[in-house]
Order: sequence, then structure tokens, then C-alpha cells
Amino acid sequence: MKKQLISLAIAAATAVPAFAQQQSVEVLHWWTSGGEASALNVLKGTLEKQGVKWNDMPVAGGGGEAAMTAVRARVTSGNPPTAVQMLGFDVQDWAKQGVLADLNDLAAKGGWDKIVPPALQKFSKYNGKWIAVPVNLHTTNWIWGNKEVLAKAGVTTEPKDFDEFIAAAEKVQKAGFIGIAHGGQPWQDATIFDNVVLSTGGVDYYRKAFIELDTKALNSPTTLKVFQRMSQIRKLVDKDFSGRDWNVASGMVISGKAGFQIMGDWAKGEFANAKKVPGKDFLCYRFPGTQGAAAFNTDQFAMFKLSDPQKTAAQLKLVADIMEPGFQSSFNVIKGAAPARSDVSDAAFDECGKKSIKDAAEASKNNTLVGSIAHGHAVPASLKNAFYDVITRHFNGQIDDKKAVAEIVSAAKN
Ligand code: GAL
Repeated sequence: MKKQLISLAIAAATAVPAFAQQQSVEVLHWWTSGGEASALNVLKGTLEKQGVKWNDMPVAGGGGEAAMTAVRARVTSGNPPTAVQMLGFDVQDWAKQGVLADLNDLAAKGGWDKIVPPALQKFSKYNGKWIAVPVNLHTTNWIWGNKEVLAKAGVTTEPKDFDEFIAAAEKVQKAGFIGIAHGGQPWQDATIFDNVVLSTGGVDYYRKAFIELDTKALNSPTTLKVFQRMSQIRKLVDKDFSGRDWNVASGMVISGKAGFQIMGDWAKGEFANAKKVPGKDFLCYRFPGTQGAAAFNTDQFAMFKLSDPQKTAAQLKLVADIMEPGFQSSFNVIKGAAPARSDVSDAAFDECGKKSIKDAAEASKNNTLVGSIAHGHAVPASLKNAFYDVITRHFNGQIDDKKAVAEIVSAAKN
């Protein structure tokens, strides 16, 4: 009898308390590159310190198209993840389905209405309620340069406008390097498109044409010039660009095979992950001609309504952790973005990160912060994908500049 009592006591003492086993979060995301994964480890570590287990659900595929397909399958099967990385209009589409949790209590306690820029709130709230939590403020209007390659090509100053950028990339190509490292995937072609639209027509044209879908603005000589300029960039990528992943293209600049990459500031995460130093090994410039403006895409975690109270408790811990200022700094120092909160110090950020934060604050104040077309912050997914299709077919030479304008106009009309 005594023996049984002892073994019972040991079992009870060693049993993990019930709540700890139940406290877990399942997070669906597409952060699978080196830089992205190391940033995500900051969040995993924070939760694990709080006794919350992280069930990882990575869905590879830059820009998140594959991830959004996976979410639809999970939600229609009635088994949503705790949280899903999501962009702009996708958050709004899910909010319309009434399946996202109400985060308003936490938002009120944390004063989120005062610290998150209004342009981001537009996507984090639905019917005045917070239903997603913003992790960062990425911007897409950047070029990344390998300092040594540029010097060897005689490019010693920052290109100030589109033509100077093309001239610089042509010098790099003539010097025997790849002018622009690029991955031929629709979302990456569209990321270049964000930049060429903003550089060619400025913020007013960008907004009128690609956010308000004004036919006159779209069906204009400016849009024709945008596609002519996309063709100029096409001549500066290497012959094997098709299908390449974005972080492999970043690697070509990091290793000195290519002079430039046109990419959002998640690319900075790859340079940082490769222990490269801004100003010494690489240069971060606003895409020439877009200085003073910022095309943003904010990574949010959309929180799905859950039936299990333990899972909901863990979900709220995840939300609180994400909005904590210290996390917003430590995560984004690695990720390459500015924090979503406007009250986070830039002390821990490198010079590119400090520039991200400064530029975002200025753009927010000057109303020159526009939603990225490529990354779901300009139009809903169906139209975004229709734009992808035109941009990619044009970039691959299947339709000419004029046809591309006509197809963009008709896509916007439908
Ligand atoms: C963006 C996302 C970034 C990064 C990038 C490449 O849409 O906001 O965090 O994941 O795609 O996949």
C-alpha cells in the first residue's frame, strides 16, 4: 500500500500543471527565409518564457499567396489557427466573415488608437473594433546595393531619380556584374511595379490610379511610362531570374554577384542575418524618385475566434506580447521593418532601420504613406491578383506597354 501511495505522490508532483499543457498557440505564417526565421524566434522565445508552447505552421512562398490558400482550408474546415500572418485587405476580408476575435479590450488598455499610425489602423480594425495586431511597418520602396560592386562599377553616389538608377545599374552590368538581382515571381514583379509607379507619378498619381482606381489616372501617359520603365528594368536582370525566390536574389547582392536588388525592407533582414553592415558592406537607398514617400505593408497577426478558453487565453498573451514596445524593437531590428508602434525608440536599430523609422514617421505626418499595391494594402486580393497577372505578363514580354495599360484599366474597371 505504502509503495502505491509513494508512486502516486511522485506522479502528482511531476505532472505538468494542466494549464501549462493547454497553453499553446498555433501560428500560420510565411516567414521561412533566414532573416525572417531569426526574427520569428524572438516571438517564439517570448512565449515559451511565459510557458506558452509555439506550434509552428510555416507556409513557404514570399508575399503570402500560398499561406492565404492554407488559411482558407483551415477556416472552412472549422479549425482555424490561433493566429495568422496577414496583410491589409486580407485582414479586412476575413473580418467581414465575422471570424476574427475582438481585441478591443486589450487595445483600449494599451492605447493602441493613439500609438498606431492611422494608415495602419485602417487595416487592423473593422467596424471600429481591433481584430488584428500589427507587428511592423515594412516599406517596399527601397533599393539595396553591394557597396564594393558599385564602387568597382564607378557608382559612387546615390542615384537620385529613375534615370540615374538605370544609368547606375547599366554601369554595374558593363562592369561584368548582374545589374539588378530579381526573382521572377508575380509578387516580386509587382514589388518593382510599386516603386516605378511611385517614382514615375508620385504619391497623388499612385493614390488616384491604384487606390482610387480613377480611370483617367490609370489610362494615362504616366501609366504608359511606368510600363516603359518596367521594360528598362527587365533588361538589367539576369537571364535566370524566372522563379527565383526573393531571398536568393538578396543573396546575389550580399555575395557580390549583383549590384542592386529592388525589394521591401525585409531584404535588410537577409543582410543582417549574413552579418553584413550597412554603410560598409551594403547601402539602403529609397527607390530613386520616391524619396519623401513610403509604400507600406504591415504584417499583422489576425486572431481567429476560438472556442477553447485556454487557447483564447494563450491567444491574448500572444497579442499582448506582439504589441509590447520591447518586442516591437527586438523583432523589427532583425526583420528589417520599422515597428508598427510610433512610440518605439530607434536606439537598437542600425542606420537603415533608423531611416525606416524616420521615413515612416515623416510619411505618416505628411500623408505620403501609401499602401503597397504588391503587398495587399492598395486593393482587395482579387484585384491585386489581376494586377499581378498584367504586370508579370508584361515583364515577361508577353504583352507590350500599350496592351499592359489597356489590361490594367480593364482589370480595375471589373
Ligand atoms: C511580405 C511580408 C514580409 C515578407 C515578404 C517576403 O508580404 O510583409 O514580412 O514576408 O512578404 O515574403
